Amino acid sequence: MKALSCADSGGKYCPCHLAYSNDCIRCNMLNKNKTCDCIWQGVCIYNEVIHNKNSPIVQRQEYLCDIEDIKLVEEYTYLIKIKIPKVLSKDLRSPGAYVLVKSENKDSEIFSAPISVMDVDLDNNTLEVVVKTVGIKTKGIVKFDKVYIKGPYFNGLFGVKEIKSTSKSNSLVILNGLSQVNSINVVRRLIENNNKVDVFINHNGVILDSVIQKIYNLGANIYHIDIDVDKLFISDYIKTNNIKLVYSGGSNHFNKDIMDIVDSVDENIKLAVSNNNLICCGEGICGACGINLNGVKVKTCKTQVNSREYLKSIY
Ligand code: FES
Repeated sequence: MKALSCADSGGKYCPCHLAYSNDCIRCNMLNKNKTCDCIWQGVCIYNEVIHNKNSPIVQRQEYLCDIEDIKLVEEYTYLIKIKIPKVLSKDLRSPGAYVLVKSENKDSEIFSAPISVMDVDLDNNTLEVVVKTVGIKTKGIVKFDKVYIKGPYFNGLFGVKEIKSTSKSNSLVILNGLSQVNSINVVRRLIENNNKVDVFINHNGVILDSVIQKIYNLGANIYHIDIDVDKLFISDYIKTNNIKLVYSGGSNHFNKDIMDIVDSVDENIKLAVSNNNLICCGEGICGACGINLNGVKVKTCKTQVNSREYLKSIY
């Protein structure tokens, strides 16, 4: 089986529990395949497991954090600013970063909700997230002055490598609804890599002024579009502006529409999309996020999959 790409591979949280239970996503020597066919990328997880058997697994920590500010921005939708430990701040600037958030009055991890990072202020160590209060996990979060934050987690979008490796090019970010929240880390990284970034936002969905303002402050150009009538405009725009990477943040249906537009121009344009799968533990353990990708069971809370393969597998 082709080695899959794990968002944690080679990082602080690797090897994880999966490597020790022969369920490693990245290393086939540490799962049921028992063959080495990875492409060496500077870290051998197998070696780490064999030689550090007695070292404890580095686990993500949960912190009780102060809520500095909370604002209702839409019906049932809150923008929350949280003071976080410095050790968390930098990692949460990664495209696709998310945290598990739990109400102060809950002990059990079953009450943790995965929430995308909207923005992180590295000078003040504050995290901004948007929480829609739809159920028992999220309703409790907005009731107290403190909240539990666990993280960092990194697989909130597919195509992290494509985003990080794109430089000195023209990029297009297309957003719909609340998926716009996790676009700030994407836009920032692309701009840091000297890309010119244009952002199209579908004006039929929810638009959060605070997100738009932050994107504008980062230096991206923002345009309002209507995805239902502007498909031709978007494909022309991609062609005329020699766009090298498109990030689509929306529902799977929206992302599929964007993929079709991009592919009508050139299937070699890099494509990254939001990960909309159900996430529960974020650690590859519970199986809630599992999908079947071309006959292979994939845990999408940790596995980076090809955006096009993924969208084609569900439509
Ligand atoms: S969310 Fe639990 S395995 Fe992915």
